[in-house]
Amino acid sequence: MAKAKYTTHLGMVDILPDESPKWRALEQIIHEEAARYNFEEIRTPIMEQTELIKRGIGQLTDIVTKEIFAFTKGDSNYVLRPELTAPVVRSYVQHHLAQRGGSQKLYYIGPMFRAERPQKGRQRQFHQFGVEVIGSGDPVADVECIAFMMSIYKRVGIKNFNLKLNSVGDPESREQYKNVLKDYLRPNLNQLSELSQKRFETNPMRILDSKEKEDQEFIKNAPVIGDHLNEDSAAHFKKVCDLLSSLEIEYTLDPLLVRGMDYYTRTAFELTSPDLGSQDALAGGGRYDLLVEEIGGQPTPAVGFAAGMERLFIACEELDISLAEPKTVDVFIATLGDTARDWAVKTLPVLRDRGVSATMDYLGRSLKAQMKDANRENARYALIVGDNELEAGKFTLRNMHESDEEQLDLEQIIQKVAHLSND
Ligand code: HAM
Repeated sequence: MAKAKYTTHLGMVDILPDESPKWRALEQIIHEEAARYNFEEIRTPIMEQTELIKRGIGQLTDIVTKEIFAFTKGDSNYVLRPELTAPVVRSYVQHHLAQRGGSQKLYYIGPMFRAERPQKGRQRQFHQFGVEVIGSGDPVADVECIAFMMSIYKRVGIKNFNLKLNSVGDPESREQYKNVLKDYLRPNLNQLSELSQKRFETNPMRILDSKEKEDQEFIKNAPVIGDHLNEDSAAHFKKVCDLLSSLEIEYTLDPLLVRGMDYYTRTAFELTSPDLGSQDALAGGGRYDLLVEEIGGQPTPAVGFAAGMERLFIACEELDISLAEPKTVDVFIATLGDTARDWAVKTLPVLRDRGVSATMDYLGRSLKAQMKDANRENARYALIVGDNELEAGKFTLRNMHESDEEQLDLEQIIQKVAHLSND
């Protein structure tokens, strides 16, 4: 086939008609499950102010330094949102959502943009679903977020995963730990990777996240933050662990889990899957008790997570899970002659009004070609109509799956087909 002149940008992907049913099926699961958990949907613009994203995620993070799509128009600086935590918090502050009372339990589904090097499971436009619970510092909120996240994978049928859990502490614990970590790394600083040497000053905890070979030896023996949590952070973390255990949600403690945004405090978690290859994170999240204040609101604790939808689908493929039935249509009207075609155009709305999905040929093709089309469209029935049928008021209804046919009038056809489509 000839190569198209215009194609999608690198790392940006069309969701084609054969694939959209599984997207809708997943979205349906998310909406239903969110309703059970009493989360409310929030939808924010695709573009945000650059300053918000820099401030929210952190000036020196990989996302901000390397991955944001940013541009200027007039006097305004825009970014395509790389994630939704900072935008949702922006919206919470802008619209004074605190005034609604209680904690705000928000969820979202939508596209995000990061200029990363594309590979399997990593795109430049990808989709996340996620939640942000803003206004509660209670470990119950952390655990509800995790439970919601797990409930989606459970409904989809993905069972093979690892929930990794850590506490990155509050600012006091972290300050103390950073010093301990730096004291430990300093004598060997010049043996660390270039990137880690840079991070030593800017964000030493991110060194623990390094994949570079030369860093591994030092990471393995590094002091862990768990040993340097202050009393409050330690008690919070213990409660999260206890509650997860009481819900029989399995987890492993991962003292090296630090996550890629600067806003995290206390609980951090990631859900990984062995079915995903190198990009193995299905979802990640944690607590961010300082972010609301950081972007101009009152001090307000919060926690949330986001999950990659493409990665969920990759796991489904590996596990042979199909989320959607093959596309189908109840009735394909196949016509012979112009009068029959006119009748078909008028009959389509009659069928559709009765809840029957229906279509016909738009190309004026032969009856044989129309029957082929009915097959390709995976029609349950073909309704065959020509001059004789119109005169008799009885039409041929062919069951495409069983290849038998009956002569019925329109009302009988509707009764038969409507009943089946409502099964
Ligand atoms: P994140 O870990 O950057 O967290 O992203 C969450 C998930 O999005 C990842 O685990 C992965 O499944 C998916 N993802 C990330 N980047 C890509 C990509 N380039 N291509 C495909 N999938 C990707 C956040 O975004 C935080 N906002 C989560 C959060 C919410 N923390 C608190 N509240």
